[in-house]
Amino acid sequence: MRKLEVVMSPALLPYYKVAGKSVVVIDILRATSSMCVAFKNGVEKILPVSSPEECRIFKDFDFVIAAEKDAIKVDGFDLGNSPFDFDNYLLDGKSVAMATTNGTKALKYAQEHGAKNIVIGSFLNLTQVSNWIKSVDDDIILLCAGWKDKVNLEDTLFAGAVCDNLQHDLTIDCDSALSAKLLYQANKDNLEDLVRMSSHAKRFQLLHLQTDDIKYCLQIDFAPVLPILKGVYLVNDAK
Ligand code: MLT
Repeated sequence: MRKLEVVMSPALLPYYKVAGKSVVVIDILRATSSMCVAFKNGVEKILPVSSPEECRIFKDFDFVIAAEKDAIKVDGFDLGNSPFDFDNYLLDGKSVAMATTNGTKALKYAQEHGAKNIVIGSFLNLTQVSNWIKSVDDDIILLCAGWKDKVNLEDTLFAGAVCDNLQHDLTIDCDSALSAKLLYQANKDNLEDLVRMSSHAKRFQLLHLQTDDIKYCLQIDFAPVLPILKGVYLVNDAK
């Protein structure tokens, strides 16, 4: 049977064999949730880039530019990293260039380590991602973006939800996947309470975030899209 592994932080990725495997990149608060919302609103493609400086260049090439640093929208950009920024019908048909502290970084890291396919996972597209994993032949790595190489609760919970969905289809023989699955199973009926205890939730409180991004990002299957990396762009491959 194919293997399903969970990597709880990008810092741990070098300890795994990535080449030839498919990787699901996870940044629940908020990069991968926002990417799903962008595609739900008709965005044509997303170019993940490494830094706000690099991202800014694409303004001259007709991209909508989105950048966040330390959970704050960077000055001079069209969008930050809140899903509410991307929940806008005016984005229909647009190309977006996007730089975030952890999410786009994790994606680039998976690419550098030789991932065969890279898809974007969030609670908003949980069933799409689970079905896609069932449909491919590869071993799977669920890569949590975490926060600056530290483990976080919300990404681990989502990895656990995928493990729970797929436990009869793939072999779970790593302790991080087992831990994520058990954490999710013990808390699946009160995900929001748990995520509100997380360090990123505290960061949002300190920033006096005006929108309830946590509630938004926990809406299971709200954006049934399948962002997948094709060349340098993420595109929506939902069937
Ligand atoms: C990131 O990619 O670093 C996060 O999504 C940060 C954020 O929530 O703004």
